[in-house]
Amino acid sequence: MGLLSRKSLFCLFLMTSILLILSWFLVLRSTAPSHSFDLSILPNSNLLAMAENENLDMSSIKAASLHEEHKNARKCDTNKQILKVFMYDLPPQFHFSLLGWKNKGRRIWPDIRAEVPEYPGGLNLQHSVEYWLTLDLLNSEFSKDLSGRSAIRVRNSSEADVVFVPFFASISYNRYSKVKPNQKSKKSVDDLLQEKLVSFLITREEWKRSGGKDHIIVAHHPNSLLYARMKLWPAMFILADFGRYPPTVANVEKDVIAPYKHLIRSYVDDKSDFGSRPVLLYFQGAIYRKDGGIIRQELYYMLKDEKDVHFSFGSIKGDGINKASEGMQMSKFCLNIAGDTPSSNRLFDAIASHCVPVIISDEIELPFEDILDYSEFCIFVRMSDALKENFLINFIRNIGKEEWTKMWRRLKEVEHFFEFHHPSKENDAVQMIWKTVHRKVPMVKREIHKEKRLSRMIGRGERGLNVASVPRNFW
Ligand SMILES: *[C@@H]1O[C@H](CO)[C@@H](O)[C@H](O)[C@H]1NC(C)=O
Repeated sequence: MGLLSRKSLFCLFLMTSILLILSWFLVLRSTAPSHSFDLSILPNSNLLAMAENENLDMSSIKAASLHEEHKNARKCDTNKQILKVFMYDLPPQFHFSLLGWKNKGRRIWPDIRAEVPEYPGGLNLQHSVEYWLTLDLLNSEFSKDLSGRSAIRVRNSSEADVVFVPFFASISYNRYSKVKPNQKSKKSVDDLLQEKLVSFLITREEWKRSGGKDHIIVAHHPNSLLYARMKLWPAMFILADFGRYPPTVANVEKDVIAPYKHLIRSYVDDKSDFGSRPVLLYFQGAIYRKDGGIIRQELYYMLKDEKDVHFSFGSIKGDGINKASEGMQMSKFCLNIAGDTPSSNRLFDAIASHCVPVIISDEIELPFEDILDYSEFCIFVRMSDALKENFLINFIRNIGKEEWTKMWRRLKEVEHFFEFHHPSKENDAVQMIWKTVHRKVPMVKREIHKEKRLSRMIGRGERGLNVASVPRNFW
């Protein structure tokens, strides 16, 4: 009896186990997405469906799907990845005439195949982003080759992703913001241009359509567009930093931080290493009495007696640029201390010299930080820490050869993201800026659509006159 019952028990156990496994399978099948649903979310779903219906063999599916992928990739290249930019044909007084270009024959734009007007040199150049972006748009009409290109100019604004405003605000500020004593008007040329720009833009169909949100305005010099920024704030600004902007007018969500054009020469063919750069820490810059000046002075007193530290005041002009190039190329680390604005050209000079930047600026915003990890090639120190006795110098001395070399290598890999060229090159600063703008387009579209929700209630003419609705806290 005992034997029999043991046997039958074992059978029962076996049976139930099999049943369990079977039912488990059934359950799994029923919870898995149904077949038709499955197909619809797969890429190349039409091909799979085709295969099911017509019993194609696997090799032909593979070939077809490769073909399909190829086609898609090409489509992406030409349509998806390229930002379509409409550019206003503003009169030359807003752009190339500010550089001294004479528009013989009343043309709006120089024919850049024949002549490329030069941007005034010296310190002006550091804020020349406006110029490089405009040249790139003009150039996009002449080159059929789309490889490495991130933006093209389109003539029909309805087909554009964004609208570019070709006002050279930085050179307008640098060269034309002083009122001349014998001038009739009390306003500077820069002020007048800004007023004209505002009244031009807010009456345009393109501006009204989006309330200005899809407009790109370059104002890289911190003091440029001083008047117009308060009127044109719904637009996407391209800036050096947000130091002189109320957060409602400009912020990291809405706007784009662009690099300065570095002033000192690039370190081509850099064969240096940790041992061959004798200066540990390098700083050359202006001393300011307000804001950042305090920290610069304090650091100066802390560091001035260190043998391998170069710390001196004075901005780099003329021959100073050569000296600074040499100095940075001979240094392991280069200090970037917040000045009267959070950003400065010095960071980009340091990158070009492969001198590891030490950034002491709590408020700094960095270009392309959504895709670049600056901690791989920069050292960040809080202002409050930097002011502690010996903190900074000990911190820097503790960074060894291996760690430094890693950062130095990374600097050489990323430096081309910060170079401005004409014609622009793949992944240089110009293309990186367009790509950053492109990544913001979906957000801009969402904002524009949201704004339209109640557009039927408001009556047609009023839509987009956002100028009047500037947040109350800064009037
Ligand atoms: C501009 O593009 C829109 C949308 O594609 C089209 O309806 C319109 O006809 C175009 N305008 C011109 C002048 O080509």
